[in-house]
Amino acid sequence: MGAAGPARAALRRRLLLALGWALAAAGAKVLPPPSNLDFSFVQICTLNWTWTAPENVSSSCNLEYSSDIVINEVPQDKREWSKSLFRVTDMFLSEEMRFKVRSECKYDNTSEPSRWVETSVRPKGVLGTAAMDLECIWHNLEYMDCRWFAGKNARSDTKYTLFYWYDGLKSPKKCSNYSVHERIFGCIFNLTFPKVTNTYPTISILIKGDSEEIRPVCASKNPTTLVKPATPKTVRLSKVNNDIHLEWSKSDTFPANCLYYEVKYHNSDLNTPQIIKVEYNHTSIPSVDPNTKYTFSVRAKPKPECYSSKLHSDWSEEKSIGKKPDSTLYFVLIITIPLIVAVSTIILLFYLKRLKILILPPIPDPREILKRMFGEQNEDSQTCAKDDSVNAYNRLIKEEEIHSLVLTETLECSYSENENR
Ligand SMILES: *[C@@H]1O[C@H](CO)[C@@H](O)[C@H](O)[C@H]1NC(C)=O
Ligand SMILES: *[C@@H]1O[C@H](CO)[C@@H](O)[C@H](O)[C@H]1NC(C)=O
Ligand SMILES: *[C@@H]1O[C@H](CO)[C@@H](O)[C@H](O)[C@H]1NC(C)=O
Ligand SMILES: *[C@@H]1O[C@H](CO)[C@@H](O)[C@H](O)[C@H]1NC(C)=O
Ligand SMILES: *[C@@H]1O[C@H](CO)[C@@H](O)[C@H](O)[C@H]1NC(C)=O
Repeated sequence: MGAAGPARAALRRRLLLALGWALAAAGAKVLPPPSNLDFSFVQICTLNWTWTAPENVSSSCNLEYSSDIVINEVPQDKREWSKSLFRVTDMFLSEEMRFKVRSECKYDNTSEPSRWVETSVRPKGVLGTAAMDLECIWHNLEYMDCRWFAGKNARSDTKYTLFYWYDGLKSPKKCSNYSVHERIFGCIFNLTFPKVTNTYPTISILIKGDSEEIRPVCASKNPTTLVKPATPKTVRLSKVNNDIHLEWSKSDTFPANCLYYEVKYHNSDLNTPQIIKVEYNHTSIPSVDPNTKYTFSVRAKPKPECYSSKLHSDWSEEKSIGKKPDSTLYFVLIITIPLIVAVSTIILLFYLKRLKILILPPIPDPREILKRMFGEQNEDSQTCAKDDSVNAYNRLIKEEEIHSLVLTETLECSYSENENR
């Protein structure tokens, strides 16, 4: 094994040499490579790779440059041939990016392509700190709503800043309307184009951190794939004979005929909703059951002729038409009837108790009455003896309040007092 390796290598070298000789014999010539490979930034997230032409290439050669991109050692299959001395590519800031170029004589089998010339751009910052999973939605052709997660290795107080640029803007713009919610970051920026436009530029997005250790990240977004229309509003729901007519608001930011709608409806007897496609902002459901309630909602979708977005608006608020006792009414009745019965029973019971007290007053305790009678009589006879008539009168008033029975006794006493005089 130890000897086999070098031996095989030597053999391969000899074979290659033999091949080289054979090609040379057939007149094939290895082309000189391009030189001075370099790059410069064209706005954010776009690079311009440049090089100079090789010397001494025969005029019969149809010289072209073939170039390719390798990201993290993975070829991107983005090979391109061109006669110009530059190539503009997207920038992948968060990964190592290698660019390679060579010269070739196209449609010429008498010369060999040159060797590859390479240069690379290494990412800045710490691995795993870059913003992750960037997703953007273009709402109603009005504003772009982008969201991303903080990098796994980013400190919890990391702040990110989003820049965007597209062909037509003089310079990159900084997004300013941020939100953060449980490590999900978001930023919203206005993005509108004249309504007549039907092609949109690619949007370059760069997300940087607030410190050097946060790795920047670039992304390019094709806005037509991100279109999400505004939710329609049901404005009219009416019944004409046995047809239901439905109309909803149209988004005025979209060009004519670039949206279609889905109308979802169900009646109270059927639980599975029907969905119909509609081209305009109104529709009619013919010959409906007049005794059934129908519930509608609408959503808008971009037409594939205009946008390659698969997103649709949210469903509009549900609206209903038709008679049919509301199930909530049943529910209310089921709850309230027993409640009313229970409450009135309790009230009735209270009332009955009151009534009983009035009809049959509580029987007084005879022992209590006797005790009172004798006790008070003793006291009275004592005072009666020495008191004058004024005192007797006072006592009379006082005892009137106590009991009629006792009062009678006191009166007797007064009489006896008078008799004593
Ligand atoms: C890239 O650089 C070349 C050479 O400097 C220049 O001619 C070309 O216009 C540049 N491309 C862009 C898109 O800036
Ligand atoms: C190109 O050819 C000239 C003359 O034939 C020679 O002096 C020069 O060194 C060559 N350059 C290269 C890069 O081979
Ligand atoms: C070059 O290509 C032509 C036509 O395709 C062919 O006839 C010729 O044999 C080729 N020469 C070599 C050296 O491969
Ligand atoms: C920022 O975004 C919120 C949420 O969409 C929006 O209500 C608000 O008007 C925006 N603020 C500015 C200054 O654009
Ligand atoms: C529905 O579309 C028509 C024709 O474009 C328009 O005149 C009407 O105002 C729209 N209805 C609503 C509610 O927006």
